[in-house]
This record gives sequence, structure tokens and C-alpha cells, in this order.
Amino acid sequence: MGSIRILMLGGTGEARNLAQALADRGHSVLLSLAGRTENPAAQPVPTRIGGFGGAEGLANFLREHAFDLLIDATHPFAARISRNAEEACSKVGIVALSLRRPQWIEQAGDRWTHVETAAQAITRLGTTPRRVFLAIGRQEAHVAEAAPQHFYLVRSVDPVDPPLCLPDMQCLLDRGPFDMERERTLLESNGIDVVVAKNSGGAATYGKIEAARRLGLHVIMIARAQATAMRTVTTVGAALDAIDHLFPPEMKRGV
Ligand SMILES: NC(=O)c1ccc[n+]([C@@H]2O[C@H](COP(=O)([O-])OP(=O)(O)OC[C@H]3O[C@@H](n4cnc5c(N)ncnc54)[C@H](OP(=O)(O)O)[C@@H]3O)[C@@H](O)[C@H]2O)c1
Repeated sequence: MGSIRILMLGGTGEARNLAQALADRGHSVLLSLAGRTENPAAQPVPTRIGGFGGAEGLANFLREHAFDLLIDATHPFAARISRNAEEACSKVGIVALSLRRPQWIEQAGDRWTHVETAAQAITRLGTTPRRVFLAIGRQEAHVAEAAPQHFYLVRSVDPVDPPLCLPDMQCLLDRGPFDMERERTLLESNGIDVVVAKNSGGAATYGKIEAARRLGLHVIMIARAQATAMRTVTTVGAALDAIDHLFPPEMKRGV
């Protein structure tokens, strides 16, 4: 049976799982990573690492390697690569699919303040010193320097670079998934009274949100940027169904 040639933009657990499922079905998948983490997780398919050089570079890459399909399975907060992917696919006329986990929804007992950006989240902490769990990754952690009166517990996969210039902070290097009980212990042992988080969605990092709810803590929740115009699915199973629909078996066999 023939297979379709897929370029998958990854950097998430969902991308890894979908890549595995597609490889199991005999498709040729090249997984693209930005190269942000020093020790990226092992992947089940061939990978390439590094930027393409904007939408134009990505369009050229798609043409040169004659891909049939692009899957954008990047993190919901990786807005630039998603915009580039949309633009490149419409330029080249290639089929595109976005795999995006649903965002978290506020539940009874949650005490969320909604903001649009990481900088706004820091402003909303206020002027009175607080003990903050900053769980927004290392790329935007520097926004905290605008409010040095707070204590920050900063968690990231790799060290924040350049190091944060803050008088009262602790850095924690760790990679999810994080379960609720562990998160609760972390929040309690550090005397945290507010969590700053991105609305990433998914189970792997939801533990801190659940733990904050149980402890009655305030969460400053950073919203996602605008949704993509690409056809979007929310689960690996739905992505496989959509691909079967887009490339029916007789088409894949070239019948
Ligand atoms: N942002 C987050 O909170 C977050 C969290 C977890 C994982 N990630 C993952 O980390 C990666 C980088 O995130 P970001 O927020 O820095 O992205 P971004 O701001 O949307 O992208 C910045 C640039 O990085 C390159 N790039 C991003 N993702 C790429 C990929 N999968 N393959 C090849 N090049 C890529 C592109 O460079 P060129 O323009 O040169 O092509 C892009 O223009 C993403 O792949 C994402 O899935 C991000």
C-alpha cells in the first residue's frame, strides 16, 4: 500500500503520539522540532530540527520534499509557527490539518483572572509582595523582572537564559507530566499564593490548576492567541479519521 508524505510540526506530546500512530499505519512522517530544548524527548519517527526561515522558507521546504500533508501539532502558544504554516500551505496549495488540544475551562471553585499576555499577568499580581508560581515556560519568564517585589518559583524544562534578574526567586527544572498531588505539595511547601499559567489545555500540566483549586489559590490565566483558520481536530483519533477522509485508501493506493 502507498503512503502519504507528511510534515508534522511538533514539540508536544500529541505530536509524538500522532507521529507514532501514522508511522504504524505505514505513512512517511517527518517530524519538525524548533530545537528549543537541550535534550528533546525521543521521537518515534525521523526528525529535523530548527526553523525554516519564515513562511517562505517553510513553503520552499514543502515544495522541495513534495509533501502531501502538513500537520500543525505545535503547542497552542507557539503562534508564529502556526501562522507561518497557514501562510505556507495556502501558498503551496497543500492540505493542512491542525491538532490542537481544547483549552481548559474554569470550573466551580476556580479563582481565575483572565489576561491576554504574560506581561499583563505580571501587572495583575499587584504591588503587594506575593508568592508566585510562574509556570509559563522559560521563553517569557523575563516578564517577571517588571515586578521584582514578589517571590517567584519558576519552573521550566531548561534553565532560563539569560538568568533571571530577580532578588527573590527559586528555579526548578522539570518536565511534565505533573500530577495533582505532586503539584499540591510543591505549592504548599513553597507557600505559593498565586499561580501564573498559560491556558495550554491537556492533562499533562493541568495538575497545578487542580491543585490551586483544592488549595483555594488564585490563578492568573493567560489566554491563547487567535484560533487558526486551518481545519482543526482536538485528539489523535480525530486526526487519524480526518486524514482517512482527506486521503481515502483508494487514493493512497493510487487506484
Ligand atoms: N510556546 C510554548 O509555550 C511552548 C510550550 C511547549 C512546547 N512548545 C514547542 O516549542 C516550539 C517553539 O515554540 P515557540 O513558542 O518558540 O514557537 P513560535 O514563537 O511560534 O515560533 C518561533 C519560530 O521558531 C521556529 N519554529 C517553531 N516551531 C517549530 C517547529 N516545530 N519546527 C521548526 N521550526 C519551528 C520557526 O522559525 P522559522 O520562522 O525560522 O521557521 C518560528 O517562526 C514549538 O514547536 C512548540 O510546539 C512551545
